[in-house]
Amino acid sequence: MLRQLTIRQRILVTFLAIVLTGSILQLLVAGWQIQLATLEFYQHHLETNALLVASGLSEPLEYALEGKDDGSLQRILTVQQSQLGHDFLLVDRNYRLIASTNTVGYPVQNTVPRTPEIMQAESGQIGADVRLNPQNVLTLFVAAPVLYESHPLGFLVLSAPMQPVYDDVARRWLGLAGAALPVLGLVIVASLWISGTISRPVTNLRNSALKMAGGALDTRIEVHSSDEIGQLAQTLNYMAGQIDGLIKAQRSFVSYAAHELRTPLTTLKLRADILADERVPQQEKAVSIREIRQEVDHMAELVSSLLTLTRIDEGRHKRSGTVTDTVAAFHDIARHWRIEAVKSGLQFETSIAPNLPEIPLSTNDLRLILDNLLGNAVKYTPEGSIQFQVEANPDHVLIRVRDTGIGFTPEQAKHLFERFYRSETSHTRFPGNGLGLSIVQAILMQYKGCVQGHSEGINKGATFEVTLPLKKTARERQGQQ
Ligand SMILES: Nc1ncnc2c1ncn2[C@@H]1O[C@H](COP(=O)(O)OP(=O)(O)O)[C@@H](O)[C@H]1O
Ligand SMILES: [Mg+2]
Repeated sequence: MLRQLTIRQRILVTFLAIVLTGSILQLLVAGWQIQLATLEFYQHHLETNALLVASGLSEPLEYALEGKDDGSLQRILTVQQSQLGHDFLLVDRNYRLIASTNTVGYPVQNTVPRTPEIMQAESGQIGADVRLNPQNVLTLFVAAPVLYESHPLGFLVLSAPMQPVYDDVARRWLGLAGAALPVLGLVIVASLWISGTISRPVTNLRNSALKMAGGALDTRIEVHSSDEIGQLAQTLNYMAGQIDGLIKAQRSFVSYAAHELRTPLTTLKLRADILADERVPQQEKAVSIREIRQEVDHMAELVSSLLTLTRIDEGRHKRSGTVTDTVAAFHDIARHWRIEAVKSGLQFETSIAPNLPEIPLSTNDLRLILDNLLGNAVKYTPEGSIQFQVEANPDHVLIRVRDTGIGFTPEQAKHLFERFYRSETSHTRFPGNGLGLSIVQAILMQYKGCVQGHSEGINKGATFEVTLPLKKTARERQGQQ
């Protein structure tokens, strides 16, 4: 049930529950004690009165018992009744009625029955009892012995209704409850305030998050505190920034891709027009056909690069396989690129360590990485040489591709691995789509490897280094622990 409430309501409910239980318990304890004290005080007051009146009755009663009653007993009782407001009844030791102001509570004939208070008074103490009188009124009866030289001559019974004292008790209860009300009000106000300070920032967070979800990713939540809510706000801001960046990158990726595809399409259209034109000589058409083939190759390459990147982005390009015959695999690749280098009039030097371990990488991925790096080296080196080195280290294999080509500036170096990035020189002088190095990096990240490019500057050649971590055998891992 609590879970369906808002944080604010939960705080309110909890606060109120605690305060209400506390107040009610305190009220009960205090009220009960006050009630007991009030009742005790009342009884004590009546007992004192009974004792006082009884002490004044000794002599008149002695006379009366000797048969010399002159009505003074009845007078005393009547006077006391008018002064104290209680009813009195006087009996002798045999419960014979001597005098009374009222017979309420005592079915009086000549004698009265043995009531609990009189029985207590017989043992010399003062007796008291609360019970309904014959008129069904709750009444307090107090009996005191009338002593003459320490011997009881009779008993004085005093009776008074309990209602006034109960009314008094009820008034006190009400007073107590009334005093608790302002405290309760204060607690409600305080808990409203505290719950507000907690729930307001949460509501703000929620509203901002909703705005972000609605597309306003540049919305930032104002952070006013460093508590948990402040930290959550910071995290949300950070998340919005990251998503914003990702979406922008995605958009520019799509727009770059579309742009890259449009240029060759325009070329294709123009060449197709030439082919369709009957006036164009056959020789020229042959050129157009060659150009169409080149453009289609270029587009096919672009589309396959895009597909590879998308596969990696979507997490579908899983790391897999192992190159077991490592040395042979590297020599294979080197053989292919030596032919390409020689075709371009370049020297190609190979240095492949003879003791290469297995590397945890699929042969396809290894080929993709090296074709890109060696392809770049051949493409961006107008003259000179290319070095292809592979070294084995205890925990990784280092591949180095060095050329004497166009090189790049430190500023350009920062962007080499960005998607679609091409330096100005390469853009104008060499074919390409600017995706090769980003593919190399994305693949290597899957294997926890890395790639770095260095250059001394423009026309000073370039070096690309790939680090491929080795899979540790179980025994090696144990040895390390
Ligand atoms: N070996 C290199 N020498 C000089 N510049 C290079 C070399 N390799 C890559 N670059 C620069 O990095 C850019 C990105 O390379 P890449 O991602 O392979 O795309 P592409 O080769 O299609 O241009 C290239 O356009 C070029 O400017
Ligand atoms: Mg390339």
